[in-house]
Amino acid sequence: MHHFNYRDNELYCEDVPIKLIAEKVGTPFYLYSHATLKRHFLAFDDAFDGTDRLVCFSAKANTNLAVLKLFANLGGGLDIVSGGELFRGLKAGITPEKIVYSGVGKRKDEIDYALSEGILMFNIESLEELEIINDRARLLKKKAPVAIRVNPDVDPKTHPYISTGLKKNKFGINTEAAIECYKIAGELKNIDVIGIDCHIGSQITEAEPFKDALNSIKALINELGGLNIDIKYLDMGGGLGITYDNESPPYPDEYAGSIIQAIEDMHVKLILEPGRVVVGNAGILVAKVLYRKQGKAKEFVIVDAGMNDLVRPSLYDAFHAIMPVVELEGEQIVADVVGPICETGDFLAVDRRIADFRQGNLLAVMSAGAYGFVMSSNYCSRLKVAEVMVRNDEFHVVRARQNYEDLIEGESIPPFL
Ligand code: LLP
Repeated sequence: MHHFNYRDNELYCEDVPIKLIAEKVGTPFYLYSHATLKRHFLAFDDAFDGTDRLVCFSAKANTNLAVLKLFANLGGGLDIVSGGELFRGLKAGITPEKIVYSGVGKRKDEIDYALSEGILMFNIESLEELEIINDRARLLKKKAPVAIRVNPDVDPKTHPYISTGLKKNKFGINTEAAIECYKIAGELKNIDVIGIDCHIGSQITEAEPFKDALNSIKALINELGGLNIDIKYLDMGGGLGITYDNESPPYPDEYAGSIIQAIEDMHVKLILEPGRVVVGNAGILVAKVLYRKQGKAKEFVIVDAGMNDLVRPSLYDAFHAIMPVVELEGEQIVADVVGPICETGDFLAVDRRIADFRQGNLLAVMSAGAYGFVMSSNYCSRLKVAEVMVRNDEFHVVRARQNYEDLIEGESIPPFL
């Protein structure tokens, strides 16, 4: 459940008419509901009630400082994949002891930054990375807390671009090699082995793949116990899917239930890295219709947001529902909703039955709170859009729309030109 609802034919975010925000802020803009963000975070966290756990929101899904600060206030930690995400997390007031650092390509400067801030743990993705982290920790006279990210080779049954736990994927270390890696890690002076980690993919809509991954991790933990390697943290990653169209992913309670049951007899602290499930349906993208045109084969609704603002439809063929901000009278039409970018792949919807949108109408691209703004770019020198957060009957611009000067910031013309 979210807080985007129609009242008297008009779409509201909590108690604010979206049309009003569009008038004040201009279009396009991302819009987040404070109540929905809070509710989704707490619903996920509460699902693990009674279990020793830490919910580390996966920053990559939405890194707006206001969003991160809200989760920090709720006691959340952060899952990061870059120095930039660490910087943002700290700025938002997330304590370093609640930050876990995943990713196959951590750079030395990023490792040093995380070590000096004292994060909870590094999720190691290769032997070479382990060795580099040991070196950096020695130079900084620290001990680096680590988990090994295991690739359990389970099929998450999701889009191939976002499945990560198959043996052909670049992520983690396969279960056989992981044991060897743990043994090596145990010998390294500046490494403190504290955990085990896996993340099998994203937008997963069944419970089975999580159970399969967990079984394989459990077996590994037992094997490690036999080698006197004590695992204190079990990081299950993220991946729980949401409803974009007619998917019916497990509810957090069901997802949590199967994990809790499986780890009952284990003495580990659980770490979870949810991204999409917390923010996905807490945000929308609001755009305006610029033109409508009838092509020979298709009808087009041309809007002021494009693939540079929301790339998911172009990149993954992802479905995002498109709703009118003020309900429209005419018969529904079937059309492509496209942006202003000079690429055929620049679409938000293809052959979609939608309202009879006309020039000037506002539309809401739903379920855009995760992997929306964060994946936007300045392609075609288009300005990054504003981000707005609503709380009850108030709204705040939590990121200003860029202006033309922002576009050339940092560029310079060399003297020889
Ligand atoms: N932990 C790790 C190590 C991850 O790589 C990810 C996502 C997450 C947690 C959070 O997963 P979530 O709960 O959001 O499924 N851009 C794509 C999704 C890429 C996901 C990358 N990793 C999309 O728009 O669908």
